[in-house]
Amino acid sequence: MNKLEELFRGKAKSVYNTDEADRLILLFRDDTSAFDGKKIEQLDRKGMVNNKFNAFVMEKLEAAGIATHFDSLISDQESVVKRLEMFPIECVVRNITAGSICRRLGVEEGKDLNPPTFEFFLKNDDLGDPMINEYHIQSFGWAEAEHVEKMKQLTFEVNNVLKDLFLEGDMLLVDYKLEFGLYKGEVILGDEFTPDGCRLWDKETRKKLDKDRFRQGLGGVIEAYEEVGKRIGVEF
Ligand code: TMP
Ligand code: ASP
Repeated sequence: MNKLEELFRGKAKSVYNTDEADRLILLFRDDTSAFDGKKIEQLDRKGMVNNKFNAFVMEKLEAAGIATHFDSLISDQESVVKRLEMFPIECVVRNITAGSICRRLGVEEGKDLNPPTFEFFLKNDDLGDPMINEYHIQSFGWAEAEHVEKMKQLTFEVNNVLKDLFLEGDMLLVDYKLEFGLYKGEVILGDEFTPDGCRLWDKETRKKLDKDRFRQGLGGVIEAYEEVGKRIGVEF
């Protein structure tokens, strides 16, 4: 497979065309961004750590029967993925309160949510990724009803698999964001699963081991990502 031109440059990853029609190459850069791109820094080793972390988690999800776009790791910072038609939507599940839900609903951080709650956001940095509901998705034609159902179902299935995986490493999966796309008419998981797009706390101390370390200027960002990876068996 040959890597061709850059198709898209996101805040932390770049997407390249390849000479295979249904495959793309994802490059995980060392860039770290938060607050819809308002805070950006380069963190040494980040691209490699997230690329390998993502590959490991995607393979765990595949093994549990959840279809993902992941194909193979091809270098420290690059993976081959299936080419999807992405929905402009972010699916968030929350097991414990943190982040925007605390600000929006005036609740304290760290409250268990039973059952876990689900939110959709529109992927649009200029608008600050506003929260949307299923009616918006229908009315604006961002996804069809059956695809919306499937995204919800898959996002909760991921919760069942990953809550246990992180618990085995003595961590709590607080919340996470997933993005989906269509591949040959099927809804499958795209984008990435890394500590950039989820919240993970040490089970005993509740130390933050995810991108909140970057958002909140707590330091030790990549060290925390690597610790999470090692606790679940990722080899860097
Ligand atoms: P929030 O608390 O900012 O709404 O985010 C909930 C979770 O989803 C958190 O783990 C971060 C992740 N997330 C992203 O990674 N990107 C996004 O654009 C959004 C809205 C959430
Ligand atoms: N809203 C997410 C965050 O604060 C994603 C982003 O803004 O890049 O990290």
